[in-house]
Amino acid sequence: MPGNPLVPRLQGLGTTIFAEMSALALETGSINLGQGFPDDDGPQAIKQAAVDAIWAGRNQYPPGIGVPKLRLAIAEHQRRFYNLELDPDSEVLVTAGATEAIAAAMLAMVDAGDEVIALEPYYDSYVASIVMAGGVRVPVTLHAPDFRLDVERLRNAVTSRTRLILLNSPHNPTGTVLTRDELQAVAAVAIEHDLYVVTDEVYEHLVYDGEHVPIARLPGMWERTLTISSAGKTFALTGWKIGWVTGPSALVAAVRTTKQFLTYVNGAPFQPAVAVGLGLDDSFYATLASDLRRKRDLLCAGLASVGFSVFKPAGTYFVTADVRPLGYGDGVTFCRDLPKRAGVVAIPHSVFYDNVETGRPLVRFAFCKRDEVLVEAVSRLGQLVS
Ligand SMILES: Cc1ncc(COP(=O)(O)O)c(C=O)c1O
Repeated sequence: MPGNPLVPRLQGLGTTIFAEMSALALETGSINLGQGFPDDDGPQAIKQAAVDAIWAGRNQYPPGIGVPKLRLAIAEHQRRFYNLELDPDSEVLVTAGATEAIAAAMLAMVDAGDEVIALEPYYDSYVASIVMAGGVRVPVTLHAPDFRLDVERLRNAVTSRTRLILLNSPHNPTGTVLTRDELQAVAAVAIEHDLYVVTDEVYEHLVYDGEHVPIARLPGMWERTLTISSAGKTFALTGWKIGWVTGPSALVAAVRTTKQFLTYVNGAPFQPAVAVGLGLDDSFYATLASDLRRKRDLLCAGLASVGFSVFKPAGTYFVTADVRPLGYGDGVTFCRDLPKRAGVVAIPHSVFYDNVETGRPLVRFAFCKRDEVLVEAVSRLGQLVS
């Protein structure tokens, strides 16, 4: 392999299986419940605002930190939902999706050899971003059946090299929503060991049981926390790639420093449109959660009726199921067979782990699809047992 030895280290991370499964979906005409993108695009008002922005000439580089209207809307959103008061000029940074925010945060905060504690199974860009920053990931595994955070494990994972804790709640792929008590325990560890926390909250509005609590709200946490979110999931506009980071100005400035050499800026006409979305009234957010709750329940019940062991998620787009009751020991084999056997695509959990064995029998299905697509998927899955 020519070039930087980093390249082979990045190859083989999660995206390979996504590509394989998407190709299988196309080849077999399967329903793709692998990748987490919705069937239906987001609200008309947001899309119209983007069209208007293009016609109004908002097509050149926006300011490096993001357009003022969006930064204001992000600050207002944090106040409205979480009672967090932000300075939109120094404590908010717009990024190319949450993905860039994660990468820029790791590059800004992690030095070669620093350890980053992250919840496993991991969203795949965490692994890549830590690797690119030269850091060392230290998993704290969420185990089936309830995928709760084991705080003792987290505490024991801290060493003199630990730099930060990378959190994700609501958590992809398990759907765990960390409780206030769990977050308080994480906060206690961070404060005791003087660690930073980077928290990925892209599913903040996709919570069906319990409530989303930003860790930045807990006492002693604002000054050590970078909070990341994105328009993709909240507004079902995953292709727009408008994300943001909020936190104390010194940390946000550090992320801005690395971000400017990744993309510099992005999405000029989409930024003011996302500001419109963030300002939508409470009924939008309530309907978003209730629609997805119904879809979750539909798919969970369907998977259970086919015979899977189903771990009902409290949030996100995803449900995890154990394939052993269907006669498989390995989720990868199951996912490779599934398109041909039943015309459905899922993703094996094991690609999200360092401890591959832990995820071996688990697979992830996305339920952010139209109800009739989910009903058809469940009916097709019935072929596994008929
Ligand atoms: C946990 C998590 N973080 C970040 C992202 C990516 O967000 P964006 O599309 O805004 O880069 C995803 C997308 O699937 C995700 O699941």
